[in-house]
Amino acid sequence: MVPNKKMEEMLNKQLNSEFYNSHLYLAMAAWFEGQNLPGFASWMEIQAEEERKHALKIYNHLKERRGNIKISQVPLPPSEYKSALEVFQAAYDHEVSVSREINNLMEAALAEKDYAAVQLLNWFVNEQVEEEAQTDAVLQQLKMIGESRGSLMYIDRHMAKRKE
Ligand code: FEO
Repeated sequence: MVPNKKMEEMLNKQLNSEFYNSHLYLAMAAWFEGQNLPGFASWMEIQAEEERKHALKIYNHLKERRGNIKISQVPLPPSEYKSALEVFQAAYDHEVSVSREINNLMEAALAEKDYAAVQLLNWFVNEQVEEEAQTDAVLQQLKMIGESRGSLMYIDRHMAKRKE
């Protein structure tokens, strides 16, 4: 069933938000490269790729339902940070705001009785639990180590192990 106009608009908005998320994390990856922290950079590159997959998941949903797909301009992400801690605080805060967006979408899908979108969004609700947890886990470690460069290098080596 083709989504109604309201759902189509909201899904397109989320699709484009996910592309922004991808740019945001790639900009964070670039910042880590500049800091000679290749493990953190690699982690963020993988995250950027995940976000692109989120965008394509919504793209394919709209495509299969013959909805109109509108790709819009991606806003400029921040590129300057003071520390790895600041980056992960921003990443965690951002994921919390994405969860809010997904919840709003879910509320709309239920109100509009768009059960196909509800199914899609169930996946995103679960994914957000994971996305918040994994950024928070790194954030807590960074809080624990304070200013220690040695510990930061140690975490960097660990971050390099993330697989897609
Ligand atoms: Fe697709 Fe990290 O939200």
